[in-house]
Amino acid sequence: MRIFSGIQPTGRKHLGNYIGAITQYVAGQDRGEAVYCLVDLHATTVPYDPAGLRESVYDTATTLLAAGLDPDRCIFFRQGDVQEHAELCWLLASVTAFGDLNRMHQFKEKSGAQRDLVSAGLFFYPVLQAADVLLYKTNEVPVGEDQRQHIELMRDIAERFNGRYGEIFSVPEARIPEVGAKIMDLQYPDSKMSTTGGSEQGTIYVLDEPEAVVKKVRSAVTDSGTEVRRARDKAGVSNLIEILAAVRGAEPEEVERGFDGSGYGAFKQAVADEVAAYLAPVRERYAELRSDEAELERILARGAERARSIAVETMLDVRRAMGVGPVRVSQ
Ligand code: TYM
Repeated sequence: MRIFSGIQPTGRKHLGNYIGAITQYVAGQDRGEAVYCLVDLHATTVPYDPAGLRESVYDTATTLLAAGLDPDRCIFFRQGDVQEHAELCWLLASVTAFGDLNRMHQFKEKSGAQRDLVSAGLFFYPVLQAADVLLYKTNEVPVGEDQRQHIELMRDIAERFNGRYGEIFSVPEARIPEVGAKIMDLQYPDSKMSTTGGSEQGTIYVLDEPEAVVKKVRSAVTDSGTEVRRARDKAGVSNLIEILAAVRGAEPEEVERGFDGSGYGAFKQAVADEVAAYLAPVRERYAELRSDEAELERILARGAERARSIAVETMLDVRRAMGVGPVRVSQ
């Protein structure tokens, strides 16, 4: 079974990314052939600083390595190193419905936030994402809840392509965790935790100092009640329950039972301490690994070479099926 996921090398990665996606990437290494990609081409769809992008690639690469990605047990690379992603993106455009792209929630949110230019790249973002996944004939895509619609779209693209040109692609399944698929902002628990849209105080970064984590959790917005249980009108507490369950690898019900009658103070303190302890080893490991950029480049280059060997094969099939590019007689 092949697993693929991508992560943006932008901003600082937060607890939502960590719980919703990164822990699943690490687990994926034991479950199948895992391929993980830092999507620098996607990062160009909104205004960015080119020199800063390179730095962010190193930051994000180091975060993933610190979290437990092992370049010997997965293929770990930078999207822009493997040109086949861009080529397949264009070819998949022929089987992508304009109307579907127009319906993407993420496009609506992100385009609404742009001040100068809504780039065509932003509109095309999901097609490039489909190319990332389909290029590796992927079976499973670990992501958080916010990517569900993009996965549905790439399934449609794969099916339409296979129907029109022959069975080339696997139709991928989303793997969305039961607990922690949508971690919410601690200050605005009706919005998801996010680097671009969230609040600074409500966003826990993977690299936050333990004291900062404790402070943010302790000042998390809750309701005026006292009961530690999930409910529609208790978005803040529900989010903290979900976070603690994910950190403990437990069910949210167990967390609720464990804090029955204890009030919000003790509960928040436990969440604060446990999240801080959960992230501390990643932060420490990050500090050890980040400075050796030559080593990071070496890891990514080797990953790109391995990724390319799969991508090139898929593109031979795709070009042949679509009748584009040079004729290959000996295939
Ligand atoms: P990115 O970098 O924005 O997000 C990386 C992963 O983190 C998940 N996530 C969350 N999970 C739980 N709670 C949250 N608050 C939260 N916020 C983010 C996201 O669902 C994602 O899994 N479009 C992708 C990047 C991408 C990709 C791909 C993913 C490009 N190509 C191919 C899968 C397959 C993204 O938004 O990354």
